[in-house]
Amino acid sequence: MIKYFPIFGALVVISLASVAILQAELNQFTQLELGTEVRTWGRTVGGKKEYLKACADNDNSNKCIHWSDEKGNVISSTSRSRVFNNGSLIIYSFQKADVGGYFSPDERERVVELSENSFGALPRTLINLIHMFV
Ligand SMILES: *[C@@H]1O[C@H](CO)[C@@H](O)[C@H](O)[C@H]1NC(C)=O
Repeated sequence: MIKYFPIFGALVVISLASVAILQAELNQFTQLELGTEVRTWGRTVGGKKEYLKACADNDNSNKCIHWSDEKGNVISSTSRSRVFNNGSLIIYSFQKADVGGYFSPDERERVVELSENSFGALPRTLINLIHMFV
């Protein structure tokens, strides 16, 4: 069964807080969105920052299929996730090891008007992906 998480709806509702909490089910297809300009997803798992990049469909190099550190060294060699050129991050089979904070360095900066003639930028969105307890 394909399960699509309504992340756009969730982000619209709580966008000012910049933090979203999403529950994913074990072994289920999970899809995250932070905008179509996203090509790199990052996540903090077990205190470590890992990155996954969008690549051509036939490119199976490490940075496209394994979560890696900033230098490209593989951290989580799972091949369970993929980033697409439309910005989507797909975790094909969500596992407890995927619980963490998800973000993208490519997310467009969101400017808000604080008061008349005063503007500020919102911090990047953080999606806390948690395990759904059933
Ligand atoms: C992005 O592309 C992937 C692969 O084709 C697809 O599975 C996913 O649904 C697409 N995302 C959106 C938001 O359409």
